[in-house]
Amino acid sequence: MKLLIKNIGELYQVEDKPRMMVCGKDMASLPCIKDAYLLMEDECIASFGTMSSLPPTLRADEVIDATGKIVLPAFCDSHTHLVYAGSREIEFIDKINGLSYEEIAQRGGGILNSSQRLHEATEDELYEQALVRVNEMIGMGTGAAEIKSGYGLSTEDELKMLRVIKRLCETAPLTIRATFLGAHVVPVDYKGRQAAYVDLIVNEMIPAVASEGLADFVDCFCDKGFFTCEETERIMIAGARYGMRPKIHANELALSGGIQIGVKHNALSVDHLEFTGDAEIEALKGSGTMPTLLPGAAFFLGMNYPPARKMIDSGLPIALASDYNPGSSPSGSMKFILSLATINMKLTPEEAINAATINSAYAMGISDSHGSICVGKRANVLITKKISSLYFLPYAYTSDLIDCVILGGRVVFRGK
Ligand code: NIG
Ligand code: FE
Repeated sequence: MKLLIKNIGELYQVEDKPRMMVCGKDMASLPCIKDAYLLMEDECIASFGTMSSLPPTLRADEVIDATGKIVLPAFCDSHTHLVYAGSREIEFIDKINGLSYEEIAQRGGGILNSSQRLHEATEDELYEQALVRVNEMIGMGTGAAEIKSGYGLSTEDELKMLRVIKRLCETAPLTIRATFLGAHVVPVDYKGRQAAYVDLIVNEMIPAVASEGLADFVDCFCDKGFFTCEETERIMIAGARYGMRPKIHANELALSGGIQIGVKHNALSVDHLEFTGDAEIEALKGSGTMPTLLPGAAFFLGMNYPPARKMIDSGLPIALASDYNPGSSPSGSMKFILSLATINMKLTPEEAINAATINSAYAMGISDSHGSICVGKRANVLITKKISSLYFLPYAYTSDLIDCVILGGRVVFRGK
């Protein structure tokens, strides 16, 4: 099956040689070909270039005319919690009335509330609800997502969540990576016995998850009021024994030390980072750990944004992700994340798009096959509606600008 997009107004994020990530001032550039074509064959990108270089004899099974439109690699969303039961808009009202995220958690709301609902839901119900979210994300231009467990909080329910993620991976057209997040919060039946819960994670949950091959990565909410650095280290070491590389929730609520622990244990990413100082930036320099920012959470919870500008100006790469979850970021729109990153963290659109494509692909371990327009990579691309420039995407922050989404070389979404 050959699919050709012709007359592309602007084709962005093209690469001759695949890069694993883009750092520092290189993030400001987004290589582009004007008046371009893009040929996809079966599931991969076969060739691209200017229209004048398109071989006249080339035949395709399907041709899409993208005159006046922009083509980008589909977004990679390297941090989500999109498998959950129900929603939590009651807590949204509590927040409006003045309660903080931590206060809601202390009252048994927050993650514990979602945990109870997840416990009551069947695997089929969870799958159906998550699939609606996944399809909505695809329609907004996302082609790959990492999904975490962490609302199970017992061996049985964590496995239930991870099996739902596996089923999504097998049935949905987007690329999925799974992360085990047993250490999301201490469950009610372990209240006051946090060490025993960490023992359960290390001795029972991680081996069980590994024996079914259900997770690529291991995560821990390393923050004030949640898990300590020592507990995080134990969990990272246990995960590594089974080949799960760390991706850590760090420094969302305080200077928790989670960033340094992540670097020490060769985490693929450290995520959130609202509290990041000079020592944290120094620790990240030269590491293989991707600082991943989730501005949807800062927006929704009314927190300070991470110092993204300072990180990039210090030479670091950054990735962007949605954090799609019912408590702190109930949205999977990567386009809105681009708007938040540009408006509130002062990234340029080029920097934000690098962060949401190639760098986010790195943060989920797939930048060799996703995140850019490169021959041989998976044919995951989005076509915008007719827009005046790339900058219109983050600028028009509520407009639906996605015309078509192609994943694995097949059209999976057409806009109205
Ligand atoms: O990334 N920070 C911890 N976990 C999620 C929130 C999950 C929830 O509130 O349900 C986050 O923001
Ligand atoms: Fe999260």
